[in-house]
Amino acid sequence: MPVRVGLIGFGTVGRAVARLLASGRDARARLVRVCTRRDGPARPDWLPATVDWSDRFESLLQPDIDVVVELVGGIEPAREWSHRAFLAGKSVVTANKQLVAEFGPELVSLAARQRRSFRFEGAVAGGVPVIRAVQDGLAGDRLVRITGILNGTCNYILTRMESDRLSFHDALEEAQALGYAESDPTADIEGLDARAKLAILCGVGFGIHVRPSDIPCASVAGVTADDLAHARANGCTIRQVSSAERVEGTPHMVKASVGPAVVPLDGPLARAHGCQNVIVVDGEVGGETVFAGQGAGGNPTAVAVVSDLIAIAEQRHRLLSPSCSSNVEANWPSLQPSSSKGSDSHA
Ligand SMILES: NC(=O)c1ccc[n+]([C@@H]2O[C@H](COP(=O)([O-])OP(=O)(O)OC[C@H]3O[C@@H](n4cnc5c(N)ncnc54)[C@H](OP(=O)(O)O)[C@@H]3O)[C@@H](O)[C@H]2O)c1
Repeated sequence: MPVRVGLIGFGTVGRAVARLLASGRDARARLVRVCTRRDGPARPDWLPATVDWSDRFESLLQPDIDVVVELVGGIEPAREWSHRAFLAGKSVVTANKQLVAEFGPELVSLAARQRRSFRFEGAVAGGVPVIRAVQDGLAGDRLVRITGILNGTCNYILTRMESDRLSFHDALEEAQALGYAESDPTADIEGLDARAKLAILCGVGFGIHVRPSDIPCASVAGVTADDLAHARANGCTIRQVSSAERVEGTPHMVKASVGPAVVPLDGPLARAHGCQNVIVVDGEVGGETVFAGQGAGGNPTAVAVVSDLIAIAEQRHRLLSPSCSSNVEANWPSLQPSSSKGSDSHA
């Protein structure tokens, strides 16, 4: 039995997810219903006739849906929808970094209480499967540092300034013309987008809930082509770097920041070109591990979302198998952030 999917939000990522599910490439997830705003986009021709089209969120709480996929963005009503979905017995998949950064622990707890899944691979670094890699692949280590290029827009701007000596303004205009930057680029340039992702990585990698607003950010808008040329002359370049590390000896304390930083040209962070993202994690035992790839865009993020759906399908399959029934608890997602009230995040 495939997981039956109800999707809300039919923009860049929502459409790409619907296309991927409609392609029938994987039988483990089936798109049942798409929910848009009443005055939202028209139903596209390519959507199979078997998929319902609705303008009511409540339609996703019907018994024929197993997983609600939220691809609208923002905190509300996404948070309320997630609550209602869990309480109606659904799992939730999202790519919404603001929601997960601010309310991840609350939603993880509610999902666990309801014995449902909450997955958000697409919320950090788009198509780079860093959440699952950290949660599962590096579970045997104790991570001490996470450093990354988490905003593709800033990386595009800085690499264009570097390669063609463009001014910040011209590089930004080019990024906007190509659709890599929003018409209001504040969240990217000032670091607000990256710090939400960094906060999520702190929760997943360190098990510590860091509020995004506790992470200090510096703007990349002050970087000049001369700064980049000077850095290059010294074997370095400038990137918007997000970094977080444990404060040893003080449990639940993290030192974190986002802003322009000089990085060596031969290091992993300098190798991110254009809109790419790179995440470097340092473990106490295993040392450095690097993840890189497309940090945004409809298709890469859709792959992350559909992979979450397949993980839920696989998990359900295992749970429904009688031989695995004693492992129910152990199989739920293992994000273990402390509550925001109880933790001492420090930036
Ligand atoms: N784009 C990326 O590369 C990317 C990468 C990683 C993660 N994400 C995350 O993925 C999520 C979606 O991003 P996106 O780029 O796809 O955004 P988007 O293109 O703006 O799409 C959002 C869609 O949600 C619809 N919507 C808004 N309010 C709604 C409501 N009340 N009911 C139903 N639909 C509603 C919007 O409709 P209207 O057009 O009518 O407003 C729009 O079609 C966000 O959380 C974003 O942070 C995006």
